[in-house]
Amino acid sequence: MKYRFYLGFFAVIILNFCCSKVESRIVNEVSEFEMVEPPPDFRLSSVCPSGLKQEKGYCVIDYQYVIPLEKNGGLGQPLPQVKLDPKIIDLGRYLFFDPVLSGDKQLSCAHCHHPAHSLSDGRKQSIGKGGSGYGPYRKDGLLLKRSAPSLWNVLYMKHLFWDGRASNLEDQTEGPLYSPDEMGSSPEIVESRLNEIPLYQKMFREAYGPKGSKVTADLVINAISNFERSLVSFSSRFDKWSSGDKDALSPEELLGYNVFRSFVARCAECHPPPMFTNNVFATIGVLDSGERDFGREAITGQDLLRGSFRVPTLRNITKTAPYMHSGNLETLEEVVHFYNEGGGRGNGAPRDLRIHWHVRKMGLSQTEIKSLVSFLGALTDETSMPKFPKSVPSGLPVALDFQSNIHRSSK
Ligand code: HEC
Ligand code: HEC
Repeated sequence: MKYRFYLGFFAVIILNFCCSKVESRIVNEVSEFEMVEPPPDFRLSSVCPSGLKQEKGYCVIDYQYVIPLEKNGGLGQPLPQVKLDPKIIDLGRYLFFDPVLSGDKQLSCAHCHHPAHSLSDGRKQSIGKGGSGYGPYRKDGLLLKRSAPSLWNVLYMKHLFWDGRASNLEDQTEGPLYSPDEMGSSPEIVESRLNEIPLYQKMFREAYGPKGSKVTADLVINAISNFERSLVSFSSRFDKWSSGDKDALSPEELLGYNVFRSFVARCAECHPPPMFTNNVFATIGVLDSGERDFGREAITGQDLLRGSFRVPTLRNITKTAPYMHSGNLETLEEVVHFYNEGGGRGNGAPRDLRIHWHVRKMGLSQTEIKSLVSFLGALTDETSMPKFPKSVPSGLPVALDFQSNIHRSSK
């Protein structure tokens, strides 16, 4: 059976009742997603999720709107293609939502990359181990240094994490999973737990054939990574406009796009379509939250890269406030003002940063600022939002339970 919940409505009620006393913070419009009751035996789906299309038994990315842009020479970047097995995607989805992977069985990937918050958590900095709740109302646990990025089009990223310390999704997944500050697990914990759950044993065999007769940590990571590769977003109004539907953008948004790619604002130099990132590191001088964050320099040792971070994608950006590695800018208006004032040149950023030469005082008018913000709203496409399983094979509670969220928050 399928349920479609309009979470915006729920969230408003819950936020009013439970959380008005909690410190006030920006909460985005809550994203819509579908909650589904899994089949009783957790049979894996052989249907490709939305955004992907079936080709010879595999799922490949459906670039229907992006390909015309590529043909028009507007890309300058090859589009990644993947060949994913629908059953492995589906298995990865259950693992992503299942807290059984974490040391204390309390924390799933979805607690910090939640569908209601466009696969991010709506927090300035994420809360790791020892916390309770999910998304913006997670509390009491260890405060991490950085903000959780959304996972849209993450398959395209050449470097993962804000400082690019992982270069593929498999290595990346080990980060949160085994970090004592986050999920606090280990390959041994993962393997011994999952091999004791008959449903998972069955599902791994279903997804991987004989190779899946023993659940290994590598297979778990493979399944989660393949699930993440299915989180694509290429059907926004911007994409429709660039493939020829000239009514897909309003005049204001179009003006905003022109500002975005102008030589004054230069946003498109670092955030070029179609991914809205050039996948490199740049120093723009956003202030840190608390402790100093040396960004990419801490990985490579190059002081030229002090305080530089990987350019993030801007897809679904209206859904993932607050912004930047430190979560220090709360709204898109604040982001545009930050750039307009010269980025780190205008906000008192440490003097030893080498701010990128494209980031300097711009003198944009109020109309240009407003149109730029409104253009960013045309990059929204959440049609590939994963379905939220109401239960997972371990039987543990998923990050969905509004009742217990209310209960926890009122303690
Ligand atoms: C406690 C909250 C939390 C949990 C749980 C968590 N993450 Fe994250 N995730 C983060 C934060 C914070 C970052 C950014 C860290 C950094 O850049 O140093 C991140 C970064 C990422 C990235 C990199 C995205 C990019 O654009 O570079 C991916 C992919 C990711 N997480 C996937 C996962 C997966 C898969 C799991 C479960 C195995 C998971 N996360 C569990 C908070 C969390
Ligand atoms: C020199 C390269 C560069 C230019 C030019 C640039 N950006 Fe960025 N942008 C970045 C980097 C790097 C970050 C991440 C910085 C951080 O987290 O400290 C970022 C972050 C952002 C974010 C936050 C994304 C998130 O997920 O938190 C937004 C929104 C954004 N930029 C919009 C713009 C706009 C609008 C312009 C033009 C006015 C622009 N950028 C120009 C490099 C650039």
